[in-house]
Amino acid sequence: MRNKILFIIFVSVFISSCSNNGAGYEYMPNMYRSPSLETYGKNNFFSDSLNARKPVLGTIARGNLSSFNFDGSLEGYLLAGKEAINPYENNSDNLEEGKKLYAMFCKHCHGEYGAGGGSITHPVYSAIPHYNDDELLRRCDLPMSQLTAGHLYHAITYGLNAMGPHASQLTEKERWQIVLYVQELQKRPK
Ligand code: HEC
Repeated sequence: MRNKILFIIFVSVFISSCSNNGAGYEYMPNMYRSPSLETYGKNNFFSDSLNARKPVLGTIARGNLSSFNFDGSLEGYLLAGKEAINPYENNSDNLEEGKKLYAMFCKHCHGEYGAGGGSITHPVYSAIPHYNDDELLRRCDLPMSQLTAGHLYHAITYGLNAMGPHASQLTEKERWQIVLYVQELQKRPK
């Protein structure tokens, strides 16, 4: 009798384990089939039922702390000229990168060596200053050759008259790399 019962249990376990049902019993179906939420889709996790979260107001993404906190005014320009410090070293990598970026973003107006003569000849851009001239600039009473890193960075970031701002096209690092390269052009003999 005992053997028969054991035999029946064995056979029923054996047969049921042979069913073609796939994965078998799911204890927690959500673990197997997690509900998928689209990044910008709706859900019931947050009160505004939107999925993607905005960063908390006033927070700054890691690695994105600005190296330059001067506004676009004349005061901002003059202050930047005195106080702004280029966080990037003058080494061959940065200079090489600055040179490439200069060729892409500045050369067509300022010329290959910053002495004008770029491919753009429209009269609107006729007053392009030379990076190594001695003429005093209206903004800070300094010749172009003596503009500091802060002046240069400010000009690239906010632009000046016919020269547009370049903050949206160039990252902070790229702007500082261009500054390093322009400082080399400032040293060139005329
Ligand atoms: C569309 C043409 C154009 C482009 C592109 C351009 N500039 Fe200029 N830039 C000018 C003109 C014109 C001026 C003179 C503005 C004035 O004094 O009214 C000028 C002025 C400057 C000055 C002097 C600002 C000052 O403090 O008086 C600097 C520095 C300068 N540019 C750097 C650059 C650099 C670096 C780039 C590339 C990222 C660049 N520019 C791209 C046209 C251009």
